[in-house]
Amino acid sequence: MSIDGYLDSASGERLTLSNDADLDRVDAERAECDAILVGATTVRNDNPRLLVRDQTRRDQRVARGLKPSPVKVTVTCRAQLDPCAQFFATGESEKLVYCATPGVADARSRLSAVATVVEGGPVVSMRTLSQDLHERGVRRLMVEGGGTIHTQFLTAGLADELQLVVAPFFVGDGRARRFVDDGCFPFHPGRRAELAEVRRIGEVVLLRYALSDRFGEAS
Ligand SMILES: NC(=O)c1ccc[n+]([C@@H]2O[C@H](COP(=O)([O-])OP(=O)(O)OC[C@H]3O[C@@H](n4cnc5c(N)ncnc54)[C@H](OP(=O)(O)O)[C@@H]3O)[C@@H](O)[C@H]2O)c1
Repeated sequence: MSIDGYLDSASGERLTLSNDADLDRVDAERAECDAILVGATTVRNDNPRLLVRDQTRRDQRVARGLKPSPVKVTVTCRAQLDPCAQFFATGESEKLVYCATPGVADARSRLSAVATVVEGGPVVSMRTLSQDLHERGVRRLMVEGGGTIHTQFLTAGLADELQLVVAPFFVGDGRARRFVDDGCFPFHPGRRAELAEVRRIGEVVLLRYALSDRFGEAS
């Protein structure tokens, strides 16, 4: 995020926050995960591939009996997702779309050739989604945004670790996407999160927070 807590600009043009060294660090984190989750708006706006980029890391995963990249997961109510988006079109791993019940028929007709559509109830609860992913073998889930998804995982107390990278500039536009929305978070002035690490990566800084007893497990 920017110094003032934004994930993106308001202009619609993609904002570069990380540097190459941090993107490589994120790639290493991805390689250690079973699945990666982004919200449907991120799929639509950013068109991310969500693949492990480094060939050595991909090879190491394959040597461990895994697909080169983790399972990709997204969440939607409206099911307005393009089956040709890179989320669906790239990588060998499974793609899961958790869809609120009213949009499931639409999602299946649009996406069933490229993804597994999972009915998520009237509104998809991140706890139910996490439990379903666990039943599918996912033990380590990396949540990459955007803000609505961060907010739901953090307010529900489902995140074991928060990795926050701060880029050295301001966005300064309240129309842009903030890191989180308003909400009732389990960490507040009366209950501080544990700062586990501060790491300078060139001109950006990584802050790692331990949010549960499971912090650091299976990494
Ligand atoms: N800087 C970063 O590291 C970073 C990372 C990721 C994203 N971003 C930025 O963040 C922005 C997007 O963030 P955002 O908060 O607007 O959107 P988002 O979190 O990516 O996605 C929101 C969408 O996800 C679906 N959704 C969320 N919660 C749901 C639930 N409980 N049940 C069913 N569907 C649910 C809905 O999709 P439908 O509308 O399809 O119903 C909702 O509109 C983009 O501009 C992107 O560039 C930045």
